[in-house]
Amino acid sequence: MSGSGYIDLRSDTVTRPTPAMRRAMADAEVGDDLFGDDPTVIRLQERAAALTGKQAALYLPTGTLCNQIAMHAFTRSGHAVVCEETAHVGTHELISSALLSGITFRTVNGPRGMVTAAQVAAALDPVPYDVAVVDLVTVENTHQVGGGTVMPVAAMAEIAAACADRDVPLYLDGARIFNACAVTGTDVSHYAAQAAALMFCLSKGLGAPIGSMLAGDAAFIEEARRLKILLGAGWRQAGIMAAAGLIALDEGPKRLAEDHAAARRLAEGIAGILPANVDLDAVQTNIVFVDVAGTGQPLAAWQASLAAEGVLVTIVAGKIRMLTHADVTARDIDTALGAWCRVTAAFGVPSPASAH
Ligand SMILES: Cc1ncc(COP(=O)(O)O)c(C=O)c1O
Repeated sequence: MSGSGYIDLRSDTVTRPTPAMRRAMADAEVGDDLFGDDPTVIRLQERAAALTGKQAALYLPTGTLCNQIAMHAFTRSGHAVVCEETAHVGTHELISSALLSGITFRTVNGPRGMVTAAQVAAALDPVPYDVAVVDLVTVENTHQVGGGTVMPVAAMAEIAAACADRDVPLYLDGARIFNACAVTGTDVSHYAAQAAALMFCLSKGLGAPIGSMLAGDAAFIEEARRLKILLGAGWRQAGIMAAAGLIALDEGPKRLAEDHAAARRLAEGIAGILPANVDLDAVQTNIVFVDVAGTGQPLAAWQASLAAEGVLVTIVAGKIRMLTHADVTARDIDTALGAWCRVTAAFGVPSPASAH
């Protein structure tokens, strides 16, 4: 439960820094990161590069900025990026991408967000008289709107091969790649090896208060550093935040399986109340979607009623979305399930949980 007294399932970004993070932040050795001499940022970047097996890494404030800088570096204005239809880059970042890079997206539809190599290959095939030029392919793993779904490394390798055949680089939006690693048992470097560059967020399941890492080869990261400053993100004593990021990177991945177990319990509990409204097969990591269409109540009414019961959720892609994270306890899951039960009954929605 959060300090506000709510069970906050809106995102895995809502975690508060742990006492160890707060101590590390207070004691952090710092410099001026714009000049490249903040020792704690340097340590974090070196650690991210070593973990991913890439030549270099860059510490940035958000995952969105990582994606935007990467796409800017890999594309030319007027060209296109291939992504899955509901991917973060092509939806939330559509306007940023148009504004900052003058690019558009060629989308492919993947069930639960998962695209295949054949789909990517088809999207890269030149169309006679078409003006679209594709400069980059992106995959999102885990796939957020797909339900936190996991792409196995073998599937990503097939996509990488399709890209290599056509000489188009592959970029991994790995905002939650460590969740995929926790499920598949794959080392993050194996996922990273499939892509020319990748990003992952420290501020999501790993529990840091702020920050994401962009990793790739040395020339790419050099250009990314230039773009970071150009876009106004040349922060200064960023080591204060990087100190918490180092702890998130060391400790965060170890406990993601707990979040996945909590999400499964939450999903199965809600499926017991609203069996037709939860896709249990999509619940592979820490994200649970409930499709309340057909219950006769608008999404906003479910959200408001759950909030009145002390449970915060968001509305994403026309569904109720909940994420588990380090600040959600087993007891919170029970409380959240009680709230779902009461709201369902109050709305008069037929449920096996209320049938006797
Ligand atoms: C898959 C994915 N990529 C990128 C982002 C952007 O990260 P940030 O919120 O740090 O900008 C998000 C945020 O939810 C995400 O889910």
